[in-house]
Amino acid sequence: MSADDSQLIWKDEFSVGHLGLDGEHRFFIELLNLLSLILAARASRQEILELLFLLESETDVHFQHEEEVLKLTGYPSVREHAETHRKLLEEIVKARLAVENRGEIDVSAETARLSALRQMLFEHILSEDMALRQHLG
Ligand SMILES: [Fe+2]
Ligand SMILES: [Fe+2]
Repeated sequence: MSADDSQLIWKDEFSVGHLGLDGEHRFFIELLNLLSLILAARASRQEILELLFLLESETDVHFQHEEEVLKLTGYPSVREHAETHRKLLEEIVKARLAVENRGEIDVSAETARLSALRQMLFEHILSEDMALRQHLG
């Protein structure tokens, strides 16, 4: 993904071979796209915050679901994968707190921070989660 690529597009090759997890990944991509759009549209601090809260809760639910599926199917490195999830969720919480603790939005700082976050989450789906495909598919 290049820096000016503001919209991510789901491709069938991103499938991990589990309908539920794929559906959640697709939803993530939509949320990440929306985040990009509302930042570009200079949305209010409240709107950005609401989307970050939604991203945080959806990510939390998705990570728990994915870890559950991995445990139930005997995936060998659930602990390492869960550790990556914990770090990613922490980054989302940090991004949300940064907006929450600031009276005003610094659009360029937030855009840089959120695009890094977006990249991290998207890359997790495309790299670490892809290792699940062989296991689940
Ligand atoms: Fe995932
Ligand atoms: Fe994952």
